Amino acid sequence: MWGRGLGSHAAAAGLRHGFDQLGLQEIWAEAVDANERSVRILQRLGLAEIGRGQDAVFLDQPTYYRRFRITAEDWSRDIH
Ligand SMILES: CC(C)(COP(=O)(O)OP(=O)(O)OC[C@H]1O[C@@H](n2cnc3c(N)ncnc32)[C@H](O)[C@@H]1OP(=O)(O)O)[C@@H](O)C(=O)NCCC(=O)NCCS
Repeated sequence: MWGRGLGSHAAAAGLRHGFDQLGLQEIWAEAVDANERSVRILQRLGLAEIGRGQDAVFLDQPTYYRRFRITAEDWSRDIH
């Protein structure tokens, strides 16, 4: 089922729930650099990259976490 948009929809639903139902002011997330799909999902949803997290291994490949965040204000500016 990969690559059919489910990951993007699930991530968007998480953001909607956090901002619209829980009233959060900010949400952050991280994904390993080697996981192109996960990174792409966060970028497409409008999260801004804020820095580097811990080193990691993904599918036997040395990599590192990339950190992203989005504020409620940024979220409300876009139509989701
Ligand atoms: C990572 C994962 C959750 C993404 O979910 P998904 O349903 O496959 O993702 P989507 O179909 O929404 O695609 C997300 C983006 O990746 C892109 N993509 C798809 N296949 C790709 C590939 N082989 N390489 C690079 N990018 C790819 C899509 O085009 C889409 O970007 P777009 O919106 O700009 O077109 C899913 O692939 C997965 O479970 N992977 C294995 C486990 C894993 O990595 N879990 C996450 C650990 S943090």
